[in-house]
Amino acid sequence: MIKKQIVVGLLGFGNVGTGTYQALEMNREAIKEQSGLDISIGKILVRDPQKDRSISIPPGVLTDDAGSILNDPTIDIVVELLGGLHPAGELMLQAMNNGKHVVTANKAALAANFKALEKAAIDNGVQLRYEASVAGGIPILNAIRTALCSNQILEIKGILNGTTNYMLTQMTDHGLAYDDVLKTAQEKGFAEADPTDDVEGYDVANKLSILIALAFGTIVSPKDIPTKGISGITKEFIGEAKSRNNKIKLIATARNNGAGLEYRVEPEEIPFHHPLAGVNNEFNAIFIEGNAVGELMFYGRGAGPLPTGSAVLGDIIDIGKTIVPGRV
Ligand code: HSE
Repeated sequence: MIKKQIVVGLLGFGNVGTGTYQALEMNREAIKEQSGLDISIGKILVRDPQKDRSISIPPGVLTDDAGSILNDPTIDIVVELLGGLHPAGELMLQAMNNGKHVVTANKAALAANFKALEKAAIDNGVQLRYEASVAGGIPILNAIRTALCSNQILEIKGILNGTTNYMLTQMTDHGLAYDDVLKTAQEKGFAEADPTDDVEGYDVANKLSILIALAFGTIVSPKDIPTKGISGITKEFIGEAKSRNNKIKLIATARNNGAGLEYRVEPEEIPFHHPLAGVNNEFNAIFIEGNAVGELMFYGRGAGPLPTGSAVLGDIIDIGKTIVPGRV
């Protein structure tokens, strides 16, 4: 098999960046064997290249200069894992304008700039991939794009945030306090840099906006999705729900009701026997109903460095397979 060398530039080396790096270290040889792709991380943008890190990176790879990645002709794919809106959105546009393929896990920047980013990919003849932006390691976007594309999607309903699902599970099953479980979720690498995005439901609204774009072909800004988070959920609410044989879960819904699309993000009481009630800790789950396929459920880890890194790496490999072997 012809070996293709694919060079990746990472923008950001936080939880998802290190997860992606580790997933590649774990599986590099197997990936080479199965796909013929020899993937290497050429450069990594960080704030402070001198900082002590748990992973040892070869000399010369860390840089604090984004331009040295975006303008490097040897870099094929730019992977944006900075999080937040700025400069992530601008850097992705610049990368595509420079002829680089882009992979991102950044749901906030993607949802806020969906049309502009998709347009830049088309205009520049490059690929923009973002599987890791929704539900971590679950390949839900791939499924919607490929196997389910023959369907009209009728409904999407799911648990799309690992941090809040972890928190609600720990509060429900072990009676732990809100602040303590939030801290643990941060330590485990589930939470956003600013966990307000998780607990107030904004992270889920970003993910639902992306799902709506792919599943229903409609652009709905996250700001226009009625959104309520879990910051008002107390032990008392959880206890009352339990007494009714229900669990509280943060649920995202988008449904074609025949007259139009309804969508919302809010905590809901889910009966114990409902499959979503059995989705615990950082796991996510998504129900989809298509008019031909019927009901489907996807389940897996929605947050955490390695599961999210797995999705990022999947996108890198997929793009790599389409790059004509130029540097054998
Ligand atoms: N903070 C996000 C979550 C990370 O907890 O789901 C994965 O998108």
